[in-house]
Amino acid sequence: MTTERTLVLIKPDGVQRSLVGEVLRRIEAKGYRIVALEMRSADAELLGEHYAEHRGRPHFEPLLEFMGSGPLVAAVVEGNRVIEGFRSLAGTTEPTTAAPGTIRGDLARAWDTQVIQNLVHGSDSEESAQREIALWFPAL
Ligand code: PPS
Repeated sequence: MTTERTLVLIKPDGVQRSLVGEVLRRIEAKGYRIVALEMRSADAELLGEHYAEHRGRPHFEPLLEFMGSGPLVAAVVEGNRVIEGFRSLAGTTEPTTAAPGTIRGDLARAWDTQVIQNLVHGSDSEESAQREIALWFPAL
C-alpha cells in the first residue's frame, strides 16, 4: 500500500454544469478519501503559480482565463497510488478522445473549442502534488 495525496480541481465547467457531486461520487466510489474540500474562485496570481510550467505556451493565457471564469472546487484526495489513479479515473486531456468510463470520456463535452474544457485537474507527480497541495491548502 502506497498512500499518497493528490490535488484535484473540479474546473469551472464542472461547477457550472452541476457535476461536482458526480465527480466526487466517482472519487469516493473508487475508494479514495476526500481530506479537504473547498469551493472558491481563483485569481490570476494563484492560477499562474499553479500552471507555472505552462507559462509561455500558447494555451497558457486561455487556460488561465477559463480557470478564472467562475467558481471551482479544490480538493485533496488520499488513497493508494491516487496520483496515477486519479489521472486514470479522469481520462486523457482531450474530451473527444478520452475513454468511455472516465470522467472526461463520459462527461466532458466533445466540442472543438480553442480552450479545452475538460472538467477536472489532477496532479501529475508526487512533486507536483506536494507543490499544488501547499498552494491551494497552505494550512494542511
Ligand atoms: S501538455 O501539452 O502535455 O502539457 O498537455 P497536457 O499535459 O495534456 O495539458 C496540460 C494542462 O493544460 C491544459 N491545456 C489546455 N487548456 C485549455 N486549452 C488548451 N488548448 C489546452 N491545452 C492544454 C490541459 O487541460 C491541462 O490542464 P490540467 O488542469 O493540468 O488538466
